[in-house]
Amino acid sequence: MDAAAVRFGMYPAPRRTIVHVSDTHLLGGDVRLGGRFDTTANLQRTLAAIEDLAVQPDAIVFTGDLTDLGEAAAYAALKGAVEPVAERLGAPVVWVAGNHDERPALRAGLLDGAPTEDPVTGVWDLGGLRLVALDSSVPGWHHGDLDDAQLAWLRGILSTPAPLGTLLAIHHPPLPSHVPLFDILELRHQRELAEIVRGADVRGILAGHLHYSTHGMFAGVEVSVAAATCYTMNIARPPMRVNGMDAGQSFHLVHVYDDTITHAVVPVVDAETSDVFDEKWVARMAALTPAERLEAFSRKPGRR
Ligand SMILES: [Fe+2]
Ligand SMILES: [Fe+2]
Repeated sequence: MDAAAVRFGMYPAPRRTIVHVSDTHLLGGDVRLGGRFDTTANLQRTLAAIEDLAVQPDAIVFTGDLTDLGEAAAYAALKGAVEPVAERLGAPVVWVAGNHDERPALRAGLLDGAPTEDPVTGVWDLGGLRLVALDSSVPGWHHGDLDDAQLAWLRGILSTPAPLGTLLAIHHPPLPSHVPLFDILELRHQRELAEIVRGADVRGILAGHLHYSTHGMFAGVEVSVAAATCYTMNIARPPMRVNGMDAGQSFHLVHVYDDTITHAVVPVVDAETSDVFDEKWVARMAALTPAERLEAFSRKPGRR
């Protein structure tokens, strides 16, 4: 039984499904990030978890810091790991540049393009849902920015609305962070971006960079920040002592409905899981009338 065909509630099925992954920080060779984090193994665990979902996403979006040092070997390894999975899932891959990336190597390694310093931007039509990849990286720096040319380009793209609206994908989130180190590296020219987003058909902004999952509003639009596959920021600590840890990795499963968009945080863990619910259980519920379903699953037996 196809989960998308089952409707037990008031909402019709989502129109589009997107897998949102961030901050893979791959390195060339068999090198651990900071001598500590096995970013290759952690990416493999994430990719396996994505395949285990058994969903056919409309796109897999990687919101930047694809590699840690912009090495050609790291882009080759990333491509080699991700493309077979995307092919099996029948989903296009959207590569977004981050501050740890190098545009020329990214272009050559992932896009089969000329190794130029031009911003890595793109527009995808996901069956009427438009996805626009912005490039907030600044060559030679770790903070984010959008220059006049890229803002003008975005304004031009958004001047024509898309049937299902638009999602922006950008590495540096246009949001504050309670962790002081991130505000040094924040995205510049946010007011100018807000002016463009406000009034356009933008329905959501997918971002990364923070290595922890968070969300907030920007210019009337929800910004959803996916954590990282490589290591995550241990925000269980006081803000000034937040550092990376080899735990808490996750990605987001984004469902685009007619009137809303949900961003489910999917933990990449190997945890003991119960097996109360399965296809058989769903089929049993599907065979009931709505009133019978409430009786079977909503009624508290002790209160009869
Ligand atoms: Fe990062
Ligand atoms: Fe970053």
